[in-house]
Amino acid sequence: MRYFLFASLVLLVQACYYDNEQDLYPAGGGNGGCDTLNLSYQTHILPIMSSKCQSCHGSVSPSGNLSLMTHAQIKEAELKVRDRINRPSGDPLLMPTSGKLPSCQIRQLELWYNQGAPNN
Ligand code: HEC
Repeated sequence: MRYFLFASLVLLVQACYYDNEQDLYPAGGGNGGCDTLNLSYQTHILPIMSSKCQSCHGSVSPSGNLSLMTHAQIKEAELKVRDRINRPSGDPLLMPTSGKLPSCQIRQLELWYNQGAPNN
């Protein structure tokens, strides 16, 4: 019985949390406000790269000897990028080094790669 009450409480708390997220990010009309329809390299992927990665992974002596400036470079680095952005917080290999990307940006990158990383 005690366990049942505890389980109910956990469910209740999670339900509230879910409601809050919907309130905070209503723009996408569901999906937690994360735009994952018609993903585009220009509109979704490049802005993530330029604001979160290219300061270190630029054209001239990039960090880790990995430039993420062009579509071809980002596409070719798929396995490495997927590995690094999905590492847990606190993992020294997590990218970007400042901390995990917002879950929406991780989802957009993953879906775009799943679609074959189109140059659109
Ligand atoms: C503040 C600087 C900085 C930022 C910002 C940054 N990185 Fe890095 N990155 C590094 C450094 C330094 C290394 C080399 C050390 C290591 O491998 O962890 C590296 C290594 C990597 C590697 C491994 C390269 C290889 O060939 O093994 C990948 C992949 C990577 N970064 C992806 C990203 C992505 C994607 C972003 C943006 C979401 C990002 N990084 C943002 C500094 C940065």
